[in-house]
Amino acid sequence: MPPAPSDRPSNPPFDRPFDLLVVGDANPDVVLGPVPRDLAYGQREQLVERADLVLGGSAAIMACGAARLGLRVAFAGRVGDDPAGAFVRTALTARGVDTSALTTDPELATPLTAVLTRGADRAILTAPGCLAATGPGDVPDALLAGTRHVHAASFFLMPRLAGALAEVFARARELGATTSLDTNDDPSGRWDPELLDPVLNVTDQLLPNAAEARALTGVARGVAEAAAALARRGPLVVVKNSAEGALAHDGTRVTAAPALPVEPLDTVGAGDSFDAGFVAAVLRGLGLADALAVAAVCGSLSTRGRGGTEAQPTWDEAVARVPGAGASEARGVTGVTGITGVTGVSA
Ligand SMILES: Nc1ncnc2c1ncn2[C@@H]1O[C@H](COP(=O)(O)OP(=O)(O)O)[C@@H](O)[C@H]1O
Ligand SMILES: [Mg+2]
Repeated sequence: MPPAPSDRPSNPPFDRPFDLLVVGDANPDVVLGPVPRDLAYGQREQLVERADLVLGGSAAIMACGAARLGLRVAFAGRVGDDPAGAFVRTALTARGVDTSALTTDPELATPLTAVLTRGADRAILTAPGCLAATGPGDVPDALLAGTRHVHAASFFLMPRLAGALAEVFARARELGATTSLDTNDDPSGRWDPELLDPVLNVTDQLLPNAAEARALTGVARGVAEAAAALARRGPLVVVKNSAEGALAHDGTRVTAAPALPVEPLDTVGAGDSFDAGFVAAVLRGLGLADALAVAAVCGSLSTRGRGGTEAQPTWDEAVARVPGAGASEARGVTGVTGITGVTGVSA
């Protein structure tokens, strides 16, 4: 039986080489848009204002966001032996993310995603390539032992990893780390509770967006109600809700935080940048309300740039937008200084 959330250490040990290990997907995103309302077939050439080739994948964007916030981050996952894989490796390394556990699959291609944007909305087309081959063997035990926190993303895109993620998280917890999960969308529409529930038993923080929270609970409900239903399945639940901000349910209470009013260039990676903000804030010892507020700001600020990682904020930029969060950190319960290189990071 896993320990109840309240029995879990909220402040995992500092004496580790990494604050965060991110497990999951990494691929190039081609972000195109704004696309016309009626996308035409029949070999019609249609011009869009802009296209950018950027680092994508929920896990990769989250890792970059966390690194920019000052965390020491390692990435575990898989790319193909191809130019797209080299692009991913270079982009992660450029942001200071350790890629020694980014495996090169000898046969399968690096995943590729086209993101078609229209205002704040987007359609996402992904060829999963080697994602489906990503498995628990891609997550070295030495990294689980060497990190304070493990975050997994894109659960439903990686069936082999999904089926073993409960064991990976249980092992991480046994070694003293905390865990978080952003399922992201399920393209199959099944949202299989038999696959997910064993993982929720060993997940400290579940971080879906509003549509995912509703889909995971199986019935159309309000966001707070969906969050409550998910919280009954184990973790602290944090639901991202676009321009509305976000709310958390700890099994007893709802806490909410607003988004920052921004004019988004595109919202690609907003949820992943939010996840980075939330995990960074909790690891730095902020309480739930402040962590949620910092996370919402990180999501909003990330929409100022194209693609997922360009406009991710530093820690100082994020806390400057949250009255009182800097003070609550300074009061800190936590030994925040255990995170090296955090203060004054300006990357
Ligand atoms: N249009 C927007 N305006 C302001 N903030 C936004 C906007 N869209 C997203 N955000 C911020 O980013 C966070 C995550 O975005 P959301 O779209 O809910 O997640 P996801 O990208 O996973 O679908 C939100 O909680 C909010 O703080
Ligand atoms: Mg998301």
